[in-house]
Amino acid sequence: MTVSNVDHREDAHSLCPKRPRREHVMLRVENLSKLYQSEGGTVVALSNISLSVQEGEFVSILGPSGSGKSTLLYMIGALDRPTSGKVYINDVDVFSLSDSEIATVRNKMIGYVFQSYNLINRATALRNVEIPAMIAGVPHKKGDFTATAIMDALGISDKINQKAVNLSGGQQQRVAIARALVNNPSIILADEPTGNLDTKTGSEIFDLLKRLSSEFGRTIIVVTHDPDLARRTDRSIFIRDGRVEKDVSN
Ligand SMILES: Nc1ncnc2c1ncn2[C@@H]1O[C@H](COP(=O)(O)OP(=O)(O)OP(=O)(O)O)[C@@H](O)[C@H]1O
Ligand SMILES: [Mg+2]
Repeated sequence: MTVSNVDHREDAHSLCPKRPRREHVMLRVENLSKLYQSEGGTVVALSNISLSVQEGEFVSILGPSGSGKSTLLYMIGALDRPTSGKVYINDVDVFSLSDSEIATVRNKMIGYVFQSYNLINRATALRNVEIPAMIAGVPHKKGDFTATAIMDALGISDKINQKAVNLSGGQQQRVAIARALVNNPSIILADEPTGNLDTKTGSEIFDLLKRLSSEFGRTIIVVTHDPDLARRTDRSIFIRDGRVEKDVSN
């Protein structure tokens, strides 16, 4: 498998309803460990984690502060290299690739949603959504069409020309989710996407993630501290001290 596999669905509309191949393993993590060197010595953030996620699964990750949830998402999302172990996304052995190939994986195979939205404040909502498509070299017209269609499906078409900075938190997070979808990624990773939102808005963002999973067959992994929200996912993985403590279906 090479990084050219990432283009497997390039021409599909990014939000086509699709029936996931449930037997297809979209993510495989094998014996993943991550050690950080800090002033106080070595921190074992992840210790020998193995798990797999099927295509179309909606998975939550829970655990105490400092247990390794974000580190796990960082490794799965190829934002940092593990100390040891493997991550396969759609059969691509991510860390066997060169740095520039890993950058392509990040751009095309993974959609990221963060607690703090990470939008470009002074750009319009539409421009924010289009950016990953531009980076991927998608022609402007096509990127524009796809971004507009996704924003329409996510109920933010009336916000297209507004600057991100002028949107509410919930609207900004919808824009961030649209941005995560624009390159039709294999997997969407969300680290506490409701952490900065009030309960009602957070619940609406979770409804949206749920809809992306059930209606559009997206594969989603979400970190949350909220057990009520986590129960709305298909499966919850509990992390403690960098290890999988419990893995339950909901
Ligand atoms: N860049 C880093 N350098 C050193 N230690 C780090 C680094 N990033 C994380 N850690 C440590 O690794 C451990 C896991 O951190 P991580 O951020 O993954 O936890 P978390 O479960 O996401 O916590 P929270 O719920 O507070 O977000 C912690 O002990 C943390 O201090
Ligand atoms: Mg965290």
